[in-house]
Amino acid sequence: MKLQTNAKGLRGTIKVPGDKSISHRSIMFGAIAHGKTEVFDILRGEDVISTMNAFRAMGVEILDEEGKITILGKGFEGLKAPKTPLDMGNSGTTTRLISGILAGLPFETTLFGDDSLSKRPMDRIAQPLRMMGAEISGQTKRDLPPIQIKGTQNLHEMDYELPVASAQVKSALIFAALQTDKKAVTRIIEKEKTRDHTEDMLVQFGGEIAVSGKNILVPGGQRLTGQKVVVPGDISSAAFFLVAGLIVPNSEIELRNVGINETRTGILDVIEKMGAQVIRLQEDRINKSATLVVRTSELHGCEISGEMIPRLIDELPIIALLATQAKGETIISNAEELRVKETDRIAVVTELLSKMGAEITPTSDGMIIRGKTPLHATDVNTFGDHRIGMMAAIAALLVPEEEMNLARFESIWTSYPDFFSDLESLMP
Ligand code: S3P
Repeated sequence: MKLQTNAKGLRGTIKVPGDKSISHRSIMFGAIAHGKTEVFDILRGEDVISTMNAFRAMGVEILDEEGKITILGKGFEGLKAPKTPLDMGNSGTTTRLISGILAGLPFETTLFGDDSLSKRPMDRIAQPLRMMGAEISGQTKRDLPPIQIKGTQNLHEMDYELPVASAQVKSALIFAALQTDKKAVTRIIEKEKTRDHTEDMLVQFGGEIAVSGKNILVPGGQRLTGQKVVVPGDISSAAFFLVAGLIVPNSEIELRNVGINETRTGILDVIEKMGAQVIRLQEDRINKSATLVVRTSELHGCEISGEMIPRLIDELPIIALLATQAKGETIISNAEELRVKETDRIAVVTELLSKMGAEITPTSDGMIIRGKTPLHATDVNTFGDHRIGMMAAIAALLVPEEEMNLARFESIWTSYPDFFSDLESLMP
């Protein structure tokens, strides 16, 4: 696809699509709760559709009306063995979270996905779920998909210290812990604090969980009740336009309905560290959302590491682009998790931005970027990774040439089906 280049200024307002993490969880909680769950503003990206189809295949009734999804949950016990293996598509979140649910169900299921998913390690969920009593087998030592899960109704509690900072693993273990005995309590200790949407939603659905810093206690035998969920916009999708607004000359962009849960707002802190401002308007504390406004700004490099990383893990590709337009050095470290995302994002970001003229050096756990460098047009590929595709499309706005093409652009539909029309709406 031909990308828009040489942008003279982006101006306007965008309503950001629903948060992907919250959308997946709203379907899962709706399915394991009793009664009706109504979800408003859900993301209709391919990853979330994979989650919806998986629960439909397990007998859950899910109605899809304009603007609203209704899930008729019958509890964990209402989930039936699917007739065929479940297709997870490109979605690591679906695969890992659903595994925690399947671990406690009395049947065997196979989970498979596309080429990218087939390279993603599932040992991080397989190992602890085996410790709780489930039988799981995958490909190679890392339990790559396809994986088989044979659940048990005798799951037992455990104390588990996560070896990786991962909300997906934490969430899988919470779903499994809910299915242990009534008197059992599972203790999960996080490596770093990660997104806490599962914990929030568990409480919203009438469940019990105790969180103290990185320590989480989940009692077993819980019964949840269907709820109404309003999904805020995805800050990880907003990130592409936050960066575009900062680096394209003569820009001012307003992003409505952006989720600002503290565990996700690392990018806002980085933008401030780089010397620019994100204005927050109409903050809604209950729904944890706000309108964000950015303008073209002078930026300087900064360091991004440690506990900040899980708060912006999915934004690092677009932050790398931002750093190419900031004066001085930006050092990203402790981000080795980038190597096991939809692609090896350290390798792919480095390759793509270097080809465009950026000064960027990969390290084992991050990148060092020296700015500010002009970028030039070159044909690029998403490598099948939605966030790489959107980063390339924003980078193209800065190149002076007229022609720049993006191959495999369809992967963007994974998380942001209206990305190109939203971008188009900001053009003069
Ligand atoms: C997610 C957690 C993160 C993130 C992913 C969504 C979630 O993955 O990168 O896009 O919804 O829990 P990890 O848990 O592997 O860090």
